[in-house]
Amino acid sequence: KPTPPKGARGLRYSSVAPNTLDAVVTPDGYGYNVVIRWGEPILRGAPAFDPENQTAAAQAGQFGYNNDFLALLPLPGETGRQLLVANHEYTDEILMFRGYDAANPTRQQVEVAWAAHGLSAVVVEGERRSGRLVAVPRHPLNRRVTATSEFRLTGPAAGSDLLKTSADPTGTKVLGTLNNCSGGTTPWGTTLHGEENFNQYFANSSRTTDKRYGIGTGATERKWERFDKRFDVAQEPNEVHRFGYVVEFDPYDPDSVPRKHTALGRFKHEAATVRLTDDGRPVVYSGDDERFDYFYKFVGSKRMRKGHGRAVREHNLSLLDEGTLYVARLTGDSPAIEIDGSGKLPGDGEFDGSGEWIPLATASAEGAVSHVDGMSADEVFVFTRLAGDKVGATKMDRPEDIQPSPHTGKVYVVLTNNTNRGVGTNAKADEANPRNANKHGHVLELTERRNRAESTSFAWSLFLVAGDPDNPATYFAGFPKDDVSPISCPDNVAFDPYGNLWISTDGNQLGSHDGLFGVATKGERRGELKQFLTVPTGAETCGPVIQERRVLVAVQHPGEIDGASVEKPASTWPDGPGRITRPAVVAVWKKDGGDIGV
Ligand code: FEO
Ligand code: CA
Ligand code: CA
Ligand code: CA
Repeated sequence: KPTPPKGARGLRYSSVAPNTLDAVVTPDGYGYNVVIRWGEPILRGAPAFDPENQTAAAQAGQFGYNNDFLALLPLPGETGRQLLVANHEYTDEILMFRGYDAANPTRQQVEVAWAAHGLSAVVVEGERRSGRLVAVPRHPLNRRVTATSEFRLTGPAAGSDLLKTSADPTGTKVLGTLNNCSGGTTPWGTTLHGEENFNQYFANSSRTTDKRYGIGTGATERKWERFDKRFDVAQEPNEVHRFGYVVEFDPYDPDSVPRKHTALGRFKHEAATVRLTDDGRPVVYSGDDERFDYFYKFVGSKRMRKGHGRAVREHNLSLLDEGTLYVARLTGDSPAIEIDGSGKLPGDGEFDGSGEWIPLATASAEGAVSHVDGMSADEVFVFTRLAGDKVGATKMDRPEDIQPSPHTGKVYVVLTNNTNRGVGTNAKADEANPRNANKHGHVLELTERRNRAESTSFAWSLFLVAGDPDNPATYFAGFPKDDVSPISCPDNVAFDPYGNLWISTDGNQLGSHDGLFGVATKGERRGELKQFLTVPTGAETCGPVIQERRVLVAVQHPGEIDGASVEKPASTWPDGPGRITRPAVVAVWKKDGGDIGV
């Protein structure tokens, strides 16, 4: 038997070299298969994918577009099967419709796009001998949720005047979810989904609150406002207040109405990840992915109950309705504030500090209380960014995924990049965001005080400063840099069964394609970062799930290159020349049937 490549347990694979191939490239000895693609029928009665004659009704029974977050959940009683939940973040019409006229989309195209957004639940089945994973169409748990499905607003701001519309005078019932980026899996068996760049769907606003969220004064690129007035802020001012939440979905109950949790605040939620306090209360971390925006934590006040009965489930689905929402403020405590390539690095004992969680509002059965001067509790939950502004939260370099380690409790905060840092009058580098014009991003490691999830203060340090390891302004938790893979623009993260952090990237600025990397977080190989795969032209790597025998990634927006279209594709993945490019979920496995990275 050949000796496996060196690395921490779980990371013993030969690193994939940076490349620009229009392919999924995996380490030697590994293979992959496409689990499911955009347009594959998953519901009973859904037709086969026919991109030249796509309809909204067909799309509503098929896997959606631009898969992002993935959860792979147990399916007790069905041997070899698991339940896959996927986000469909957004649509890219120019890559979906032949002859798409961006100035004049048709109603048919717009309705297909609505049906291609949202979530999918689909049962998947593993092959006995390999890690190959295939979808099980027409399974009774398979489900689509789209931009027109019914949702319930819950928590403190539900029913408030800010959330009432002409179609919904109760302020509690919303149609659809938009721009679900990353997410999380709860210990009580549901999934969380962050509504991220919801601003891009709403037209014609001149309000300052909307401006803070990036909602434009004119028409939108997709022009949905021509087909449903709720996307026109001038006509339906409060509809936009009903997007930008954390969605909770119960994939085990096909009749459940998914919820939007106002207690977790409204911003561009990249994701939402859960850790429990010692006494069983949920703590949810969530980043607001915008240059110079903040990251947040919600500490619930109700304890999770164990079991699967209906009453237990209903109780657990209310856990995120009561608790306190906090925003992070970070303070450095050493003299250096900028990594400038001079060789001064976090390993010198600098670039670390302390932080506090500043309370914004508390929701309880008795009502909600604001902790922000000049804002009501409803305003804090609906205009959360403005609350963060008022309390002086720390402006970060685009907070993406945040993941607490199930092994150590340490929390990893991914900052993807911020090329505007230090430019003009913008905030300059600080210890927690230590590079001006930050092209490649970095990852912070937070330790909650006494390692308690509910603590209101923490310590932090830099874990990873991304880029070409040859550049002196990079850092890999102190690991020797001649032995690590180059990485740029970290985005989503997940832990493997051994406590290694896996990082997927979006927007590689080093001239090669995006990919997936594993890095040890503890032990003597801490900081050893190794590339595990690369994705095709134009694609971003999303939603990693790392199991013992299998790695799952969402290949999002393959072929999304300026000037590309159905007629002029930049990628022919996954089906080859002459076929439309399709976002898809991929399973990677070791060809000899062994465990990943062992
Ligand atoms: Fe949808 Fe922040 O990535
Ligand atoms: Ca994306
Ligand atoms: Ca993302
Ligand atoms: Ca991103």
